[in-house]
Amino acid sequence: MSQPVKNIVLGISGGIAAYKCAELVRRLTERGCKVKVVMTESAKHFITPLTMQAVSSEMVADSLLDPSAEAAMGHIEFAKWADLILVAPASCNILAKMAQGIADDLLTTLLLATPAKVAVAPAMNQLMYAHPATQANIATLRARDIAIWGPGKGEQACGDVGSGRMLEPLELVERCLAPVQAPVLLGKTFTITAGPTREPLDPVRYISNHSSGKMGFALAKAALELGATVNLISGPVSLSAPEGATLFPIETARDMLNSALQLAPQSDVFIGCAAVADYRAATIAEHKIKKQGDEITLTMVKNPDVIAHVAALKENRPYTVGFAAETQDIQQYAKAKLKNKNLDMICANDVSVKGLGFNANDNALSLFWSDDCLNLPTTSKQQLAMQVMHALSKRLN
Ligand code: C5P
Repeated sequence: MSQPVKNIVLGISGGIAAYKCAELVRRLTERGCKVKVVMTESAKHFITPLTMQAVSSEMVADSLLDPSAEAAMGHIEFAKWADLILVAPASCNILAKMAQGIADDLLTTLLLATPAKVAVAPAMNQLMYAHPATQANIATLRARDIAIWGPGKGEQACGDVGSGRMLEPLELVERCLAPVQAPVLLGKTFTITAGPTREPLDPVRYISNHSSGKMGFALAKAALELGATVNLISGPVSLSAPEGATLFPIETARDMLNSALQLAPQSDVFIGCAAVADYRAATIAEHKIKKQGDEITLTMVKNPDVIAHVAALKENRPYTVGFAAETQDIQQYAKAKLKNKNLDMICANDVSVKGLGFNANDNALSLFWSDDCLNLPTTSKQQLAMQVMHALSKRLN
């Protein structure tokens, strides 16, 4: 982890969310940050430089060609002063310029000249955000390790509802001050399975399990934070996919297998965190099964083992990581699964401990490789996911 962020350049581009920047600067300075504000020409239509000067106690910079500003601190020096440049709100226009490397004003020039971490908080109309051009620009920036914070969903200034709201100032402050993780998984592609599968019995009924998807989604988020590209194959869960993950929603184990076999050969790592139903109904009734007597017999057949199929790939086999939920003899069962399924690593947990594992927010894991093991004590699934990613990253290079 690198040093905590202290010096922040806040780049304000033109968007109605710019009115929240005064609050953002106040909250950042309260937490001990020094903030210098840079505004684009269009930002000044939404909030005045005088307001930003008052809240930051610093002159606001807005021109690349201002001799007095250059004499005080040249733009290259300015770019080097920052620990973080946050562009908030980031309009679709500035995202496009950043993706193309255009430097036609002070802010875009600083963004090219800085060695610091760069983050953007997109804010725009939901249709502009969803446009393929904007999405492609965001993907380009993400691949360059620029952090994309938000946008949030909800009602927009224009009256539309959808994705495109700038994250709230307090959320942005938390992100600015969160310890910066070295992007140890930059350039790696992960495919992660999560959640339960749902095996239909008839048009209205199915067999499933209590998996919440929390652990798999936490792994996806951690991998993204460390710079990876993430495909998330998920059964039905009530969670939103982490920002930046590509979600492949599935229902049955066989759907999951199809998606997994398509994505795994293009991935560096495959993690099977899903609770895949071991069996499915031998036949799915065409019509709703009617009530019939005191007993009913269902014939079930075995589902494919998704992770074992991935681990058996002859070409482009990814580094394959399984999960094992056990209630006893964890080490023995986990190691047997590692071997039998031909996995590279397995993460085992004791689901008999109250408050851990299935559906809980906390978990504890033991990681096993054929030549080593590591115990990760109880903590939140998100922290645990980060620890798993760090342990995994050491095995990848
Ligand atoms: O055999 P068991 O279900 O305990 O193995 C757990 C591991 O295997 C997990 O990684 C799980 O996602 C994966 N699995 C699978 N397909 C199945 C059953 C389990 O990918 N049909």
